[in-house]
Amino acid sequence: MTDQSLPPDQPATRKVFIKTYGCQMNVYDTERMTDVLSGQGFVATETADDADLVILNTCHIREKAAEKVYSDIGRMREIKETRASSGQSTMIAVAGCVAQAEGAEITRRAPTVDMVFGPQSYHRLPELIRQAEARAAGFGARPIATDFEADEKFEELPAASGAATRARGVTAFLTVQEGCDKFCTFCVVPYTRGAEISRSVTQVLAEARRLADAGVREVTLLGQNVNAYHGLAPDGANWSLARLLYALADIPGLDRLRYTTSHPRDMGDDLIAAHADLPQLMPYLHLPVQSGSDRILAAMNRRHTRADYLRLIERIKTARPDIAMSGDFIVGFPGETDEDFEATMSIVREVSYAACFSFKYSPRAGTPAATLATQVDEGLKTERLLRLQALINDETYAFNRSVVGRTMDVLVEKRGKRAGQLVGRSPWLQPVHFDGPETLIGQICCVNVDRTESFSLFGKALSTDRPEAGMIGSSTGRAIRITGETAR
Ligand code: SAH
Ligand code: SF4
Ligand code: F3S
Repeated sequence: MTDQSLPPDQPATRKVFIKTYGCQMNVYDTERMTDVLSGQGFVATETADDADLVILNTCHIREKAAEKVYSDIGRMREIKETRASSGQSTMIAVAGCVAQAEGAEITRRAPTVDMVFGPQSYHRLPELIRQAEARAAGFGARPIATDFEADEKFEELPAASGAATRARGVTAFLTVQEGCDKFCTFCVVPYTRGAEISRSVTQVLAEARRLADAGVREVTLLGQNVNAYHGLAPDGANWSLARLLYALADIPGLDRLRYTTSHPRDMGDDLIAAHADLPQLMPYLHLPVQSGSDRILAAMNRRHTRADYLRLIERIKTARPDIAMSGDFIVGFPGETDEDFEATMSIVREVSYAACFSFKYSPRAGTPAATLATQVDEGLKTERLLRLQALINDETYAFNRSVVGRTMDVLVEKRGKRAGQLVGRSPWLQPVHFDGPETLIGQICCVNVDRTESFSLFGKALSTDRPEAGMIGSSTGRAIRITGETAR
């Protein structure tokens, strides 16, 4: 067990600055670390300049992401030195996937770093901080924690307080599954996040209920392969992601459910059926394929073909006709020919995505693809990426244009840039701007979209699902649902 009591000689409040890189799971982990530290007398601060503790929650997925950490450590060292000259101490910690992958190597390259701990050690933060403080006082070694003990992590991390959750807003992430056993030949995740584990159904439902009680209306379930979820339920069975979603849909207040990231091989029939059955399950699915070429898919160890993927999307669209797809693509995987790349362009045209992330292949030490002799020239990768991104942008614009004139539910998240303007999200994750009172934040408004501009939609609110908190026009009652209506 972790001792989370406050040492008697510590000042009541110290400041922590956490910088988050990488994926949504790191965003979730940063929130959990903030919660652990608030039990230790730390308050979060927005800048490293006044922080007693700086944590870099890092990403190792591509070289650029990992290298950025070292330049940030350099900046943190300068702040540490400036603060030291006025008698203040600063601890620098490296957490996240670079910490897991590089461990003690980080402190050899950057001796200013006081502690290094991977994603499975966040529940041990109080103990690690005490060790780092002891070392600063001349006792013991620098704490380095890179063991895999994810089960313990989830059992011991404290629950977010209602106040912390309210402060974070109306949408929340909830990690249900972590790690990956798929070993795609380009990817570091199986090495940085460890083997796939699922949190128990009891834990997930309890956390979701706390979120709903604190006013969260949309929950995005997270996992590196979230649709491989198989959490232990109180009935002794392992529940699939679909079963979990049906249970979450019963929680009052949780009006919107999403999940990410899914692997095509784990899209079970029951999950596809859930998309047809559950109005709470938003009609937007991130389902990366990485490449449109069977040769490259095999070399990536994705273990499905282009045709398998397209058939799968057809089945999903049959279940939920208004579903919009998003994906991830890698260009310039070793051995990728012009023909392979054209196959990627053609699958993007065939699927017609609402949005996509695309990346140049980045060789990662320790992964099989990094050692292949057929690495693609950097200039060619750039050329291909630009062509692919131009196509993807065209598709995103076309998707946005296709909803102009429609009336849709918008979950209002925050104030817009202009006074009197609000911003929310459509069921398809598009940002929607419209005018209205701030009392509408946290509500689902029925909005008529009248134009699109770059990646945003603009419209007029017609009604809200909680009219007592802020009237719009003359409409009352629940926002009109357009579930089932096609988006294009
Ligand atoms: N679990 C998810 C992906 C997690 S990583 C899946 O199976 O699809 C997020 C994205 O980063 C990947 O989908 C991939 O497109 C990209 N990526 C991962 N490793 C990469 C590498 N070595 N070079 C470039 N892009 C990479
Ligand atoms: Fe990486 Fe592949 Fe696992 Fe996704 S499925 S996290 S790309 S190894
Ligand atoms: Fe990056 Fe780790 Fe997420 S490598 S993408 S932070 S799982």
